[in-house]
Amino acid sequence: MSDKATLEIDGKKYEFPLIVGTEKEVAIDISSLRSTTDSVITLDPGYKNTGSCQSAITFLDGEQGILRYRGYSIEELAEKADFLEVAFLLIFGELPTKEQLEKFHADIKAQSVVDEDIRKIVDAFPKSAHPMGVIASLTSALTAFNPSSVNVDSEEDMYKAIVKILGKFPVLVAWTFRKKNGLPLDYGDKNLGYVENILKMMFKQPNEEYKMNPIVLNALDKLLILHADHEQNCSTSTVRIAGSSHVGLFASLSTGISALWGPLHGGANQAVLEMLEGINADGGDTDKYMAKAKDREDPFRLMGFGHRVYKNFDPRAKIIKKAADEVLNDLGVEDKILEIAKALEQEALKDPYFVDRKLYPNVDFYSGIIYRAMGIPTDMFTVMFALGRLPGWIAQWREMRLNKEPIGRPRQIYIGETLRSFKSIDKR
Ligand code: CMC
Repeated sequence: MSDKATLEIDGKKYEFPLIVGTEKEVAIDISSLRSTTDSVITLDPGYKNTGSCQSAITFLDGEQGILRYRGYSIEELAEKADFLEVAFLLIFGELPTKEQLEKFHADIKAQSVVDEDIRKIVDAFPKSAHPMGVIASLTSALTAFNPSSVNVDSEEDMYKAIVKILGKFPVLVAWTFRKKNGLPLDYGDKNLGYVENILKMMFKQPNEEYKMNPIVLNALDKLLILHADHEQNCSTSTVRIAGSSHVGLFASLSTGISALWGPLHGGANQAVLEMLEGINADGGDTDKYMAKAKDREDPFRLMGFGHRVYKNFDPRAKIIKKAADEVLNDLGVEDKILEIAKALEQEALKDPYFVDRKLYPNVDFYSGIIYRAMGIPTDMFTVMFALGRLPGWIAQWREMRLNKEPIGRPRQIYIGETLRSFKSIDKR
């Protein structure tokens, strides 16, 4: 293949280098386009054809349904690794040795106490507040409590900010959950593993000893790994673009959490369960809802189906579907909602509307069913997604800082009024 692309504008030819990735993906490097042409730019709403960076973190092939973190397949990581190992891998590029992992965990644990004044902020939220709004605000508040996280030019300071947020974020998640449930805001146990401690912090009752359920622990570990990174999605791009202004890690993360909340992104896991519950309450008639999803006049969409990048089965959905079956079996839960989900999936996989548009179940289609079985309320689902995505956002933010990427600042094509004269108010 040639190493250049040629563009002809108004009879004049311009050459641009081709960039080829390690997995043979090809991009036209148009960074000199505007300066070498007569201020011409590209236009790509939704960035369907635009690469925003070169990244060595996650490889995703949507046509073939492949997802790899730092070269390791998601299937192998979900089976053999634990979440903290995956977090280290994503952030620092290699699987940790035993010593590296122990040090990483010890550094995180040393930072897992939250300023008592944050408790007052948690207390000030109404119980009815959406947990995503609460967690985004609390992450933002951490910026004010930890101004040192703003020094983005020192690797050492970046490391400190990274272990701080990995230590404090699960506490904030647990407090968000506990406040909603009227439980005392407490800490976990330094002697436990990272994910084990999250479960204890969330579920420990004040008057009884907490007993860890290994099935639930294993399922949560898996879910967090599956959500840990997904290259340049909406929230990650938001984190990178916010961080490109040299704002600190916590402020960048809080923008990502807000972006994740939307129902077309991480908020889909809540939307899926609400949809399945709605179908159940309406008599469980899946055909009716399939017809609604296909009707272009009807705004209803089959939540948990379709993906901007995957035009094949989302590999995470395959793993989660199996995990959902196992967890429900092991916990002895019979869930009508799971039956409805399976029926919808079966119908969609053979329906020409979904087949032609390559709409397959995505990661969120089954994750909510597992969270529900674990006793996590629906409006906490997206918070659990954020907990899993945290290492990915951190890794992407760190990579962006280490690559010294310029501030993200897209251009536009202006289509408004041309110059006109001001009319005084009595003449309008
Ligand atoms: N139900 C019914 N029709 C759909 C759906 C759906 N879930 N998703 C896409 N379509 C149709 C859409 O109407 C369009 O049809 P037509 O060509 O006739 O106009 C076609 O498929 C292409 O859709 P699109 O909206 O142009 O595709 P997109 O790449 O812009 O959107 C998406 C991707 C994920 C936003 C979309 O598929 C969707 O809204 N899905 C439901 C929400 C959801 O599950 N989101 C979670 C994504 S995975 C978690 C994450 O990583 O955030």
